[in-house]
Amino acid sequence: MEPILRLDSARLVMRQWRDDDLPAFAKMCADPQVMRYFPEPMTRLESAALIGRIRGHFAELGFGLWALERKDSGAFIGFTGLGVVGFEAPFAPAVEIGWRLAREHWGYGYASEAAWTALGAGFERLGLDEIVSFTAQANEPSQKVMQAIGMQRDGENDFQHPNVPEGHPLRPHVLYRITREQWLNTLQA
Ligand SMILES: CC(C)(COP(=O)(O)OP(=O)(O)OC[C@H]1O[C@@H](n2cnc3c(N)ncnc32)[C@H](O)[C@@H]1OP(=O)(O)O)[C@@H](O)C(=O)NCCC(=O)NCCS
Repeated sequence: MEPILRLDSARLVMRQWRDDDLPAFAKMCADPQVMRYFPEPMTRLESAALIGRIRGHFAELGFGLWALERKDSGAFIGFTGLGVVGFEAPFAPAVEIGWRLAREHWGYGYASEAAWTALGAGFERLGLDEIVSFTAQANEPSQKVMQAIGMQRDGENDFQHPNVPEGHPLRPHVLYRITREQWLNTLQA
């Protein structure tokens, strides 16, 4: 399969990571507001390591979390993309869709726009049958993105995230899904 190195949406370029993305990426991942639904903000070293893992995922599988760049300003604003679920769960193996944007770029529809584009790539180019997404129960902004791109809550598969300590308020997670068929119906609606 041809690797999907770049995607375009109306206002965004979804591209491979560059070394000079690190300062803006590390700043975003160190922002307590951006990371309020994760146990901890990330250090610069953790952000650099995450870019390395994202590059590795692209190298191995030909898709991943694309770096997002605004077409109007060229600014790096975060990531959106697809990844293989990295822990055991009743709904895995599966491909998940996820996003993280710097705070100054919230509220413009960029996450939903990029997510819609990534979903299309997953179904049309990768030939996936289903894509899942999950987040901490309290993370309403992220669930709004899931709903905006036509995903549906699967309450029966809500779960305790194995990488969040037991008893932590962010451990309960909700699961959303969309099948290829549901996506095709959304296109026609
Ligand atoms: C989750 C996250 C990406 C959502 O960002 P967002 O900007 O709110 O999401 P969208 O791109 O869908 O934008 C929707 C908002 O833009 C507004 N908007 C403005 N112009 C718009 C347009 N052209 N199209 C769509 N929405 C638009 C919408 O009204 C909506 O605002 P509201 O939330 O006040 O109702 C962001 O909150 C984030 O990065 N959070 C931290 C990381 C995180 O939690 N990631 C998920 C972990 S699983």
